[in-house]
Amino acid sequence: MAIRSIEELPIGGRRTFIRVDFNVPLEGGRITDDTRVQAALPTIRHAVSRGARVILASHLGRPKGKKVESMRLEPVGARLAELLELDIIAADDCVGDGVRKLAQDLRDGQLLLLENLRFHPGETDNDPLFADKLASLAEIYINDAFGTAHRAHASTAGMVKHFADKGVGHLMRKELKFLGEALGNPARPFVAVLGGAKVSDKIGVISSLLAKADAVLIGGAMAYTFLKARGEDVGSSRIEADKMRLAKDLLDSLDGRKVELLLPVDHVVADSVDAAAGEVVSQIPEGKMGLDIGPQTIAAYGERIRSARTVFWNGPLGVFEKEPFAAGTLQMAQTLANSKAISVVGGGDSAAAIARSGLADKISHISTGGGASLEFVEGKQLPGVAALEA
Ligand code: 3PG
Repeated sequence: MAIRSIEELPIGGRRTFIRVDFNVPLEGGRITDDTRVQAALPTIRHAVSRGARVILASHLGRPKGKKVESMRLEPVGARLAELLELDIIAADDCVGDGVRKLAQDLRDGQLLLLENLRFHPGETDNDPLFADKLASLAEIYINDAFGTAHRAHASTAGMVKHFADKGVGHLMRKELKFLGEALGNPARPFVAVLGGAKVSDKIGVISSLLAKADAVLIGGAMAYTFLKARGEDVGSSRIEADKMRLAKDLLDSLDGRKVELLLPVDHVVADSVDAAAGEVVSQIPEGKMGLDIGPQTIAAYGERIRSARTVFWNGPLGVFEKEPFAAGTLQMAQTLANSKAISVVGGGDSAAAIARSGLADKISHISTGGGASLEFVEGKQLPGVAALEA
């Protein structure tokens, strides 16, 4: 069944449950990055403008089924009210008689924000009773929480079967369009850039991109596991010894294939990640660790990006939180921003690097999903999307 969009559903005057992903970073009770709240605004504004009785639900952090004061959604509600310039009714739970009464009393265009769904173990357990309770609050179900679509939880999967009228919000539609269509049927050359620490986190997506892309460029700590698997000295660089076989098999699988897998040809090394400066080398000496890609690699990768028509990037290319090892990642952000390619950035650290460089509006799409975007690009079915098809 084709998935419907919120515009196609009769939400006016009806209690509309919108699952959003308000899992934002907090420090001392303050939101340090409100991207996910901002990303949900088009759907919420649309629902309010149609006179829906809006019930917003999200998780925040991993409270493991208990009430954790520091994980209450109160700061998110305050930010949302500020951005929308509207009052928001805040519930102190997400199920129960009190919440049901608040939902029943909603008037057209009013907003109710439920408390953190994960304060109940039934959410992550996808418990049918908990799912029933959530479903009983509303008449229409919308999922706009792309960042959580890879979780089969009560609010993303279990409760959905109770609704005849269900669909996606604007954010989810946009995420599926870019990650699904733009990368599924890419304008070529299609280049993927993958960084980050662990081969194990990315192996699925690398294999799947090697089947779709024209070139895959590797950076970050995971590059050292590949280089070591190819027999190169990597000094004291961080590697995953137990993933060397996997990396070697992947490199061997390239024989005779047209796709290219590029590894760094030079590196910024130091004694430790806390060093005040790095040194550029083409071979990593004993006792030194690779912490960023070097200038020749930046140039070679940059050239690939400039001639690409579609680029997908996920994961930093070095320890970009530390100034001496940030150049590879920040240059990649800049190159991508200057390119004419359709550029899609998976969430997490690469999205943070783009934001830090002030280049977000130069990228075609920055996903709000970290794990979800990787699983989707890998070709896995996302439970939050599958539930809407049923
Ligand atoms: C995320 O931040 O990736 C999503 O909100 C999902 O959170 P989770 O990894 O705790 O399930």
